[in-house]
Amino acid sequence: MKHSILIVDDEKLLLHSLDKALSHEGYQTMTAVSGEEALATFREHGPDVILLDVKLPDMDGMQVLQKIKAMDACVPVIIMTAFSGIKGAVEAVKLGAYDYIAKPFDIDELTFALARCLASQKAVAEVNKIRSTSKERYSFDNIVTAHPRIQRMIDLSRRLAKNDQSTVLIMGESGTGKELFANAIHYNGPRCESPLITVNCAALSEGLLESELFGHERGAFTGAMRQKRGMFELADRGTLFLDEIGEITPKTQVKLLRFLEEKKIQRVGGTKKIKLDVRIIAATNKDLFREVRAGAFREDLYYRLNVISLVIPPLRERISDLPLLIRHFIDSYNRGLNKSVSGYDEEALAILSNYSWPGNIRELRNIIERGMLLCEGNWIRTTEIPLEHIASRGISDPAKVSSPAPAALGSAVEACADGIPSHSQGNRSRPAPVPAALDSSIKIYVEAVFSHYQGNRSRTALALKITRQRLKRILNSTVD
Ligand SMILES: Nc1ncnc2c1ncn2[C@@H]1O[C@H](COP(=O)(O)OP(=O)(O)OP(=O)(O)O)[C@@H](O)[C@H]1O
Ligand SMILES: [Mg+2]
Repeated sequence: MKHSILIVDDEKLLLHSLDKALSHEGYQTMTAVSGEEALATFREHGPDVILLDVKLPDMDGMQVLQKIKAMDACVPVIIMTAFSGIKGAVEAVKLGAYDYIAKPFDIDELTFALARCLASQKAVAEVNKIRSTSKERYSFDNIVTAHPRIQRMIDLSRRLAKNDQSTVLIMGESGTGKELFANAIHYNGPRCESPLITVNCAALSEGLLESELFGHERGAFTGAMRQKRGMFELADRGTLFLDEIGEITPKTQVKLLRFLEEKKIQRVGGTKKIKLDVRIIAATNKDLFREVRAGAFREDLYYRLNVISLVIPPLRERISDLPLLIRHFIDSYNRGLNKSVSGYDEEALAILSNYSWPGNIRELRNIIERGMLLCEGNWIRTTEIPLEHIASRGISDPAKVSSPAPAALGSAVEACADGIPSHSQGNRSRPAPVPAALDSSIKIYVEAVFSHYQGNRSRTALALKITRQRLKRILNSTVD
């Protein structure tokens, strides 16, 4: 893609030669000989970069700069100035110009300045894009739950996000959302503009982990050809997420403890102490206290890390969250895959709600993803659940599979709540009548969704795809 450039200079000869040279370099050029013309062209064409002379007949270059910046604070402007005007150019940079170049310059010098400017512009745009998507992606609203304990955990995490000094320890089985919480805590607090660096402590050997975390000086060990900054230094003013903290060896435990006490680190092979402002969030799927009792984890480090802890319950202990989670993932895959899947048919839902979920929410997400890919109609059926997988990893009570469990309601609520049996919606699921036992479950489900949307009737009705009147009737109903 060609970059567009607006060249502003009242010296026609110079303007012409710059125009020619820069088009030759592959830029799409436009020119202006006065401040007014420059502003008009800028307004009309919105060039990627501007090359601006400071001396113009009708207006001071600085004024033009300020007007351009008022219209678009991000567009890069390079000031051209005679050598005697350098001081002014420095001022211009303070006013928001990207750079300046002293006349006379050769074209290589200029193209180099332009390339550098565009590259840095691109990097800034990318970082901003990542930041804004990270912020959206890691909003606390994306943690789906109606479980009171997890809701309290979210409230606490919101406070922890704002209060960014304390260390946080997150415990929970694999796939329960530890990383999701860590991200939300980082991206919703004052550290969000600085990096969140994640280190999986189980993935590296002791030596490698140490030099990854703390960096090393040149010659610290064979192969240390040059000095290297570690993850701690890279996370300065941000957050270091130490995943699988239960795996670090006693030597690394000591180093980490020292950092938590002094807020300083020492590179491997170094003597200097480096002061850092890093928040630590650690996570583990081990019972860390048991590790302490077994002598595998230092007690003092455990207490340092465990100033505040979040213990995320496994999915099988919060199976009432299943319908909400299913809806959440189905909605998001519907968007991503451009599908319009409504949910699981009743038999499939019964299987899912009786499963023990050893891989927790990650496993649920994967099963839904697979179901959505395989599913051809509106409803995902039993045959689209990886049964071999479920059979081999254990349904908590296989006898229960034939009757839908209370929580298994993702599709049923839509069908029942509006009095339409699910099998009449053009799906290919077996035409099973909705069991009466589901009535009370529907209310529980609807209440869960209602509480997820903090009592907002419109949003709840929208999420459930039912009318507000219908919602009101269900909420006021007295089924037990
Ligand atoms: N409450 C939730 N709402 C929505 N999505 C969730 C929830 N909990 C977890 N997830 C999703 O489940 C997946 C697994 O979560 P995450 O990676 O945070 O788990 P983890 O505890 O760090 O797992 P591991 O111990 O294996 O590293 C992610 O895609 C995450 O977004
Ligand atoms: Mg994780």
